[in-house]
Amino acid sequence: MQLITKRLKLRPTLKGDKAAIFEYRSDSETNRFQGWIPQSPDDIDLFISKLSYEPNQPGSWFQIMIIEKKTGQIIGDLGMHFSDDLKQAEVGCTLNKIYHGKGFATEALSKVVDYLFNELDKHRVFASVHPQNSSSINLLERLGFRKEAHFVESYYNNGIWEDDVIYAILKCEWNATL
Ligand SMILES: CC(C)(COP(=O)(O)OP(=O)(O)OC[C@H]1O[C@@H](n2cnc3c(N)ncnc32)[C@H](O)[C@@H]1OP(=O)(O)O)[C@@H](O)C(=O)NCCC(=O)NCCS
Repeated sequence: MQLITKRLKLRPTLKGDKAAIFEYRSDSETNRFQGWIPQSPDDIDLFISKLSYEPNQPGSWFQIMIIEKKTGQIIGDLGMHFSDDLKQAEVGCTLNKIYHGKGFATEALSKVVDYLFNELDKHRVFASVHPQNSSSINLLERLGFRKEAHFVESYYNNGIWEDDVIYAILKCEWNATL
């Protein structure tokens, strides 16, 4: 599986991506709204070992690396979780902070949402975000996701009960904007 956009190559995560992933995922300030911050590269090994090797497997997470075509550099990752019945998918995107503010997440997520709807025939794609994660919310709203729910203290994260906001888009809504 490989997806190509104007500036990016998107391909499955490999064991050898460990160092690059650790560099940006261990940045606890940038990733303060994420439930998982790796403490060592070994944590990345475990993380990669839990991923599915191929997309569209029931109840599994599959992750792609976001690579800038011009430099060949890994700039972030994008995870997809497939529901047990394979009719829906959850997405989440993380970029190395030096690549924020250039439209790379929008470009990558747009391609992935299109892939989920029009190649894998998902009915609904959604994302779960912290209500204060404004960059992530802006990203989802830029692509046409609708706010569907705000759950109060629904997520236990490192000893704190956090709120959780759900954004979603349906296949018919996505294709109506094309
Ligand atoms: C979520 C995240 C990936 C969003 O990154 P981002 O840089 O804000 O999003 P994009 O890469 O799409 O860039 C959009 C910005 O680039 C600007 N931009 C510049 N060139 C652009 C271009 N060619 N095309 C589109 N936008 C462009 C946009 O105007 C926008 O600016 P703004 O933030 O001032 O409105 C990033 O904040 C992140 O990694 N956060 C930490 C991880 C996290 O919490 N993830 C959420 C898990 S659900």
